[in-house]
Amino acid sequence: MKRILLIVGGGIAAYKACELIRLLRRRGHAVRCVLTEGGSYFVTPMTLAALSEDKVYTTLWDLKDEAEMGHIQLSREADLVVVAPATADLMARMAAGQAGDLASTVLLATDKPVLVAPAMNVRMWSHAATRRNVATLRGDGITVLEPDEGAMACGEYGAGRLPEPAAIAAAIDRALAPAHHPLAGRHVLVTAGPTHEPIDPVRFFANRSSGRQGFAIAEALAALGARVTLVAGPVTLPTPPGIERIDVDTAREMAAAVAAALPADAAVMVAAVADWRVDAADQKLKKGSGPPSLTLSENPDILAELARSPDRPPLVVGFAAETEQVIEHALAKRARKGADWIVANDVSGDVMGGEANTVHLVTAAGVESWERLPKSTVAARLAQRIADALKDLS
Ligand code: CTP
Repeated sequence: MKRILLIVGGGIAAYKACELIRLLRRRGHAVRCVLTEGGSYFVTPMTLAALSEDKVYTTLWDLKDEAEMGHIQLSREADLVVVAPATADLMARMAAGQAGDLASTVLLATDKPVLVAPAMNVRMWSHAATRRNVATLRGDGITVLEPDEGAMACGEYGAGRLPEPAAIAAAIDRALAPAHHPLAGRHVLVTAGPTHEPIDPVRFFANRSSGRQGFAIAEALAALGARVTLVAGPVTLPTPPGIERIDVDTAREMAAAVAAALPADAAVMVAAVADWRVDAADQKLKKGSGPPSLTLSENPDILAELARSPDRPPLVVGFAAETEQVIEHALAKRARKGADWIVANDVSGDVMGGEANTVHLVTAAGVESWERLPKSTVAARLAQRIADALKDLS
């Protein structure tokens, strides 16, 4: 449980602060609100008090509060101070170090990290004065989120909308996370294992993938604080702690589970998906009139479809299991499938089902060959690389 001091500024987006309080409370955090005078025109202290289950602070000049809880104490008792929505005016006063009301006084007096979610008209956001103020605040170590782009309450269109409450809550998770949890607030999707493609009600074809590498990657990502959805083909591995696992059999089920798990900040497609499926018989195929001929159809390419979908995660990582010309094939696969990275491995030896892996990481920057490593170390290294790549993503 963390204590969040939420300063609600004056703007139409103030109503979204109500949803934000709900999301933070659901995470188990305590939320205490400061409502500016402008903010009180858009939401009432009563609404915020009911949602936060705490008193709402509105003025510097409340003698009772100054006796019970001064503005200094208010600013120090929190683990994080959040301003949502932050108006152009409040940001200007913060940048200038003014302390004319309770909100700005608390912001000047605090010794805790501050996260600001701005909301204003597009012209106000792009005005040179606001750009200057944002740069000053960031220079002072304050996290200023980028506003969303879209239609505004005033009828104009552009950047300046308050980020969605879920996005602010995720940014709060990151701000509260310990340093070794760089993926806190991030959602990463992982596929692992083989797929089984039925031939008839009792038979299927499959491949030798054990799922070990994918499960190790899911575990390593969770250890760095990510929320992980693991879409697993048929494997006999236990679910690593804290991971949401979705079991599937066929490639088409895997494709549907991947689509349903979006949006995600990154996807790591480790599954050895069957390229083809059989037009399966409804009844068990019987011996007698010679071996049956199986008609194959092509399965969806889950990685390629994800990389080209409108919901494409900002970082898409594929695997390439090769038995020869490993790097050449991986370079071609990266381009063909539209992946950002390809982790290529030589599966000609005992990799499938084994404990170790020799991989090459193929990115836009080139090819990095890693030494032969246990699958858990490959996973930890890859998870750290993913954390580094996502660091600058808002
Ligand atoms: N993949 C996928 N869906 C498929 C086939 C593959 O998502 N139907 C993904 C795998 O999870 C992996 C990458 O694509 O991340 C490459 O898989 P691989 O089997 O090496 O490539 P193929 O597309 O099957 O190419 P080929 O068999 O020609 O090597």
